[in-house]
Amino acid sequence: MQRRYSRVTRSLRDTISAQPDIWLLDSFQGMPETTPEDGDAAKAHVGKVVGDPARVQKVLGDVGANMNRVHIVPGWFQDTFPSVSASEVALLNIDAD
Ligand SMILES: C[S@@+](CC[C@H](N)C(=O)[O-])C[C@H]1O[C@@H](n2cnc3c(N)ncnc32)[C@H](O)[C@@H]1O
Repeated sequence: MQRRYSRVTRSLRDTISAQPDIWLLDSFQGMPETTPEDGDAAKAHVGKVVGDPARVQKVLGDVGANMNRVHIVPGWFQDTFPSVSASEVALLNIDAD
């Protein structure tokens, strides 16, 4: 019997099996300074939630990612986005709070 996959699952499966470039952008310095729009409560999060590029590399290696195609780009988005040279995007996840 042929297994039926949802459209999203098929897309993920096809994306991973195609061994695409994976671009990972993060400050790796935690959350940035706040602006007035963020409100006072956001100030408590500045510098928190600090990622670790070495851990990211390990996890991706453990799940079999092609590390030659993994680009870990530390820095603030406004500085790092211009360095992304992807001509097409298969999957985009934005998790910057
Ligand atoms: C909730 S964490 C998520 C981290 C990661 N995406 C994950 O799933 O584990 C939010 C992340 O957004 C990053 N971040 C927030 N604003 C940023 C900015 N302007 N430039 C770069 N990184 C930013 C922080 O460094 C923090 O690691």
